Amino acid sequence: MWTHRHLLGIEPLSKADIETVLARAVRWHELNRKPEKKASVLSGRTVVNLFFEASTRTRTSFEIAAKRLGADVINVSPAASSVIKGETLLDTAKNLVALRSDAVVLRHTSSGSSEFLARHLDASVVNGGDGAHEHPTQALLDAFTIKQRKGKLDGLVVAICGDIAHSRVARSNAILLGKMGAEVRLTALGTMMPVRADVLGATVKIEKRLEGAVEGADVVMMLRIQTERFGGAMMSTTREYSRTFGLSAAMLARAKPDAIVMHPGPINRGVELDTRIADGDRSVILDQVEAGVAVRMAVLELVLGQPSS
Ligand code: CP
Repeated sequence: MWTHRHLLGIEPLSKADIETVLARAVRWHELNRKPEKKASVLSGRTVVNLFFEASTRTRTSFEIAAKRLGADVINVSPAASSVIKGETLLDTAKNLVALRSDAVVLRHTSSGSSEFLARHLDASVVNGGDGAHEHPTQALLDAFTIKQRKGKLDGLVVAICGDIAHSRVARSNAILLGKMGAEVRLTALGTMMPVRADVLGATVKIEKRLEGAVEGADVVMMLRIQTERFGGAMMSTTREYSRTFGLSAAMLARAKPDAIVMHPGPINRGVELDTRIADGDRSVILDQVEAGVAVRMAVLELVLGQPSS
């Protein structure tokens, strides 16, 4: 049974919770591939997208997800709102909920911002990415994509490679995949690896070199360098970074022959990922984007308490 009014991170979810989201998403994934994509389980409900950071995939897929379930959707851009007059996050959100909104999807630069709102709002809060903390729906859609390709999560070797220290995607994925029984290998430049990477889970293994992480992996997940979260000076040059931590065809050859390549987007082509791999037949990057709608439909349905039969 799903008992969460909010989705604030992967950490509070049990293995059964994760399985519930993934199972519900299968139904929505099938619906999304039909010409007629509408359901009515959230008819009459209102979802607010409140995004304080740029987003292409997460914001649009939450909007599509809510609309496909029959909800009304309001997109609030802080730059065009009273935030620029000094209104606080909490006041902004409280006013949006006073309009009788049922759920707020929040993306914010500050870690813990979703949890803060959840404590104060009479509405469901869904974390659309909070600082370097968590991006739970990204990890859920990644798990959905892996399960579609590999049929399971348990026992797989997943290499998460890149800017681990600043990546909420890496954190949510490492926690989720560990809970589901996968072996998670993390690799990054020394300056991009958190000091306490072990807190991401007992199953996490730290590899100093990309080669070590990719060797024999079932899944290779590449990450963007989060330049917006640090002032630079984390690496010598992007060319040098690409040479040591970029995924080339030769590097991918170390993984299992049927290994898949993932990336949450946006991609810095030619930096963390060779463009031929990004567009190649082992890339599931656009499958991840497609899965985002189904998984976010499942999440909205569950947190708003209307699982349909
Ligand atoms: N993966 C992801 O969060 O992409 P956006 O920043 O475009 O939402």
